[in-house]
Amino acid sequence: MENDDKVVPDLRRRGLGTRLVRRCVDVARRLGVQILHAHIHDSNLASRRFFEKLGFIETAHGYMSTYGEWRESGSEYALAISENNKLT
Ligand SMILES: CC(C)(COP(=O)(O)OP(=O)(O)OC[C@H]1O[C@@H](n2cnc3c(N)ncnc32)[C@H](O)[C@@H]1OP(=O)(O)O)[C@@H](O)C(=O)NCCC(=O)NCCS
Repeated sequence: MENDDKVVPDLRRRGLGTRLVRRCVDVARRLGVQILHAHIHDSNLASRRFFEKLGFIETAHGYMSTYGEWRESGSEYALAISENNKLT
């Protein structure tokens, strides 16, 4: 659905990232998507906290492959989309 969500540094911690992901969830739900995934490097603590607050759950941990290349250690997070599992 998206590759690398980014909020410019000066505008972070103002809720923009949350609004972006919520909009993505709304669109995905309308398209019939059931689960959203996020791949997060271990070093990206801000992103881990961000997705956790949005309700994403860590489902796997290991070395991630991006564009066919092995990268640093990270985790896969997932959010099940349904009327009973909305973002808070
Ligand atoms: C991750 C990112 C998109 C968050 O965007 P944002 O607009 O700052 O996020 P929000 O303001 O909606 O933050 C929502 C919550 O996420 C968590 N969070 C966000 N940034 C955080 C940080 N630096 N440290 C700890 N928690 C953080 C907090 O719980 C925050 O709620 P709070 O401000 O009430 O405490 C932004 O930091 C970013 O662009 N990072 C660089 C790119 C990146 O890593 N993208 C994700 C790749 S997987």
